[in-house]
Amino acid sequence: MISFDYKNLLHSTKIRTGIEPDKLELMQEAVQDAHAEIQKDRQQDILGFYDLPDQNVDHITDYINSLGDRFDTMVVLGIGGSALGNKALYSALRTPSQLRRKVLVYDNVDPVFLDEILDEITLSKTLFNVITKSGTTAETMASYMIIADRLRRTFPDDYTERIVVTTDKEKGFLRKLVNDSGYASFIVPDNVGGRFSVLSDVGLVSSAFAGIDIKALLKGAAEMRQRCAEADLMSNPAYLNGLLHYIYMKQGKNISVMMPYANSLYDFADWYRQLWAESLGKRKDVKGRDIFVGQTPVKALGSTDQHSQVQLYVEGPNDKVFTFLKVESFAVDYVIPNLHPDREEVNYLGGKKLSQLLNAEALATSYALTSAGRPNCTITFPQIDEHHLGEFIMMYMIQTVFTGKLLNINPLDQPGVEAGKNATYMLMGKKGYENYLEDLKID
Ligand code: PA5
Repeated sequence: MISFDYKNLLHSTKIRTGIEPDKLELMQEAVQDAHAEIQKDRQQDILGFYDLPDQNVDHITDYINSLGDRFDTMVVLGIGGSALGNKALYSALRTPSQLRRKVLVYDNVDPVFLDEILDEITLSKTLFNVITKSGTTAETMASYMIIADRLRRTFPDDYTERIVVTTDKEKGFLRKLVNDSGYASFIVPDNVGGRFSVLSDVGLVSSAFAGIDIKALLKGAAEMRQRCAEADLMSNPAYLNGLLHYIYMKQGKNISVMMPYANSLYDFADWYRQLWAESLGKRKDVKGRDIFVGQTPVKALGSTDQHSQVQLYVEGPNDKVFTFLKVESFAVDYVIPNLHPDREEVNYLGGKKLSQLLNAEALATSYALTSAGRPNCTITFPQIDEHHLGEFIMMYMIQTVFTGKLLNINPLDQPGVEAGKNATYMLMGKKGYENYLEDLKID
């Protein structure tokens, strides 16, 4: 089970602006209200991500088994919530699980990046997974068209078998295309938004292709859902962490830094960045009043960024809340040899493991921040595996929705993203968007 250590978010002689336990008591009613709203949303089938751990995944495993050894790589074409979870799972698990096959994610329209991916793969051994809930996003459609064209020219007889599509079950251009072309396809459920979709077909197909145990992932998520089922703060880490972050936001701590002390969890900090930013960064409350809320998520990597960011974190503006991700047992480890036993500059390291040094650095950074009065908490993974990642994913999705309820905003929409998408359509000449600048009131 992953653990959540929040003592350095509470008031102490060091964290003088820390949260008093009384304050948590005072918030009980707001917590109950937010919990009741979540239950109501669940009954109305709005928060589909809660149910994903219960799904039957045979349709995914059957499809992956049907591929045999035909492909050695999957390239995901998608962006935002249609990409970040795939990337995070693959990079977290590729080493400990010694995954069978490679997953690459093309989540931009940078031509050089595309060129690099095409250089890295063997086209004949690559399956392309086009993921887009709306079925229309410009970036994903552009990369789809380049790839589909190339595949059609290179493999005219069977190019449709080299593309798989994950999109809405009925709506959107891509669903139409699936119906016309015969591409294999998967579904983004109606009631699951992009950034909450990693445990749906969106994240599971590429994971199963790579060899990730998706049932273990869902089991971990189910266990965290159970742990977060009641409004009792002391047994519900998602609500507790959400509430603590909410109180800090109200105190003006507008930045949330997630700092994994493990390279393999760095892409999870990216996944978190989208979830927290896009869900909570809102202009309007649920009644349509301007409130301009949100907390800017920042990612940093321990220990690398101790030599880049931590100076600012310890001595700069006290406007941040920190979350460290720590791993107790790494999949591989190295012992540092005592190469210079008579030299005090380095002999203290001799005989220690690299993981020991890394975890000491994590604790040391937490000490440094605490003694400078900077609130911080730590989530510890006993090891990085499917089960613990499932727990982590579910905890953060629940925490995000819960915090949105406390903030009185809709954590599921993203009107700010839509504005950019529409402006892109206008700039690229899409029919119907000719006058979009007038809507934006830009000359
Ligand atoms: O979380 C979200 O809803 C967004 O970030 C989307 O995932 C992103 O905009 C991509 O949209 P789509 O999956 O429709 O291509």
